[in-house]
Amino acid sequence: MKNSFYAQDRISNFLSPNKISIGTGAAKQVGIESKALGGKKALIVTDPGVVKAGLIDGIQESLESEKVRTGIFDRVIAEPPARIIDEGAKIAREQGYDIIIGVGGGSSLDAAKGASIMAINKGKVLDYAGMDLVTKKGLPMILLPTTGGTGSEVTRVFVMTDEAENTKKVVYSNFNLADVAIIDPLLTVSMPSVVTADTGIDALVHAIEAYVSVNATPFSDILAIEAIGLIAQNLPAAYAKGGKVEARYNMALAASLAGLAFMSGGLGAVHGLAYVLGTQYHMSHGRSNAIMLPHVMDYNRIGNLDKYAQIANAMGEDKQGLSNYEVAGKSVDAVRRLLAAVNISIHLPDYGIRKGDLPKLVEGGMKQARLFVPNPRDLTKEDVERIYEMAF
Ligand SMILES: [Fe+2]
Repeated sequence: MKNSFYAQDRISNFLSPNKISIGTGAAKQVGIESKALGGKKALIVTDPGVVKAGLIDGIQESLESEKVRTGIFDRVIAEPPARIIDEGAKIAREQGYDIIIGVGGGSSLDAAKGASIMAINKGKVLDYAGMDLVTKKGLPMILLPTTGGTGSEVTRVFVMTDEAENTKKVVYSNFNLADVAIIDPLLTVSMPSVVTADTGIDALVHAIEAYVSVNATPFSDILAIEAIGLIAQNLPAAYAKGGKVEARYNMALAASLAGLAFMSGGLGAVHGLAYVLGTQYHMSHGRSNAIMLPHVMDYNRIGNLDKYAQIANAMGEDKQGLSNYEVAGKSVDAVRRLLAAVNISIHLPDYGIRKGDLPKLVEGGMKQARLFVPNPRDLTKEDVERIYEMAF
């Protein structure tokens, strides 16, 4: 790994939750942490799947053992509509909750962030879509991820659906940062293998996009390359044997490192081109990113041969006697093999998408052109079309 950061004249920022606790059984600390934040009545924001999996019981026990009363708001659904967030916030406000505990995958943690700020700030959550429009810190907030993917527990963003406009809206605010993120691999062992694969690859995309981004920082570089190695090493094992706690620990760690990395370094064209697959074909966020990842890497790699070579290296590829160009190409091979190992097809026809849909895909991809700015290689409309074509 290179030990000197190139763009030293650029000022870099790094943001994170106030505290991150990680370890097997760490969720048992939630009661003590809530009490330390002054919480007396905690609203647990989650979804029905998490409740059904029995993941809330231990958390409630921990809270109640510290004399923190609890209530559960479990109406979160995937890509949470703004009205659900407003509903959670209303309950928090009207029933006197003084701390928010988010438990779940990206959608539940995002809804928890929204409920926290909207319990204090006036109006509707959609009023705050955009960059730094939230004026007041919300209720204290603890976030516990149950997937090894989105990294939402460590980021300052949340995504919601604007149902009236049928689009996703994003709220960027430092008030979305958790007071405490608690990362407990035991919360992730019951994840079905397909969710393990999709969310694990989402984390890999975060790490790779942050690493090759033109906005990469010394912080994002260190975190991203570590996350890439951890995911390559541990995702197949976590996928193959869900109860393997060591693999789950490493995936949970990697997802958080990748989240911190993209918070500092940004994302790129994989997220840009995947977006339309999620909205038009109702694929999970992780799956749509997984499909686009190797195709975008193949296109991008000449934009930063050094870094793609480092990715290959981190994923265990041998570089002996090879040029940087050849090693960079091996990063794409390594990702293709990893996707095959976790049974993810990277071909759009396997998802019922036909060649005739290409113009629709290109149009959708071009709408996300803001994500092409940090991408290591420029993209024209023709390039976007070529990348989607590779996926057929
Ligand atoms: Fe993502």
